[in-house]
Amino acid sequence: MVRIAILASGSGSNARQLMAHFSGSPLAQVALVGCDQPGAGVLQRAWDMGVPSLLFSPAELRDGTLQHELASAGIGLLLLAGFMRLLPPELVRAWPGRILNIHPSLLPKYGGKGMYGHRVHQAVLAAGEKESGITIHLVNERYDEGKVLFQAKCPVLPGDDADTLAARIHALEHAHYPSAVEGYLKELPPAPPLPHV
Ligand code: GRF
Repeated sequence: MVRIAILASGSGSNARQLMAHFSGSPLAQVALVGCDQPGAGVLQRAWDMGVPSLLFSPAELRDGTLQHELASAGIGLLLLAGFMRLLPPELVRAWPGRILNIHPSLLPKYGGKGMYGHRVHQAVLAAGEKESGITIHLVNERYDEGKVLFQAKCPVLPGDDADTLAARIHALEHAHYPSAVEGYLKELPPAPPLPHV
């Protein structure tokens, strides 16, 4: 049984889908939700699902405190779901191939620092793209640059604004993130020993 931690900064609609998907699964369970934003919706969603949550500061992300907490909780897979900060290199190295992110565009297009939320959709619309989509990828030490594991596309429709496009993308994310994670987990070799911190 793989113990999953989700890191999120916002409303947590993807986190909710992940918690629901793995609830009762013999393969994995969401054991922890980590959040860097007091009052973020994801904290309530974790509470509603009976999943422990951990609020941490930017300093605790940087100084190894979060890494220590994750290792102590026996976390084997980290899922970013709207987490707005770059992970420190030590943390990335401690879970090699075991940190995934979801991004609301077809990377490498519309990714990188500052490309999040409505900014992504506004850029897609401004460029006159006919399609957009989602990317699930491994996390490395740079924004949105790890190996792509999965992509799904949707049309950009005439009359779309950032809100309508965001809603279509969110639906795509909810439909695919949990199953893509499950597929990835099934292919993973047995977990290495937990990182020593
Ligand atoms: C999603 O669009 C995801 O792609 C991005 O952040 C957003 C999080 O949304 N990384 P939510 O908090 O899961 O609703």
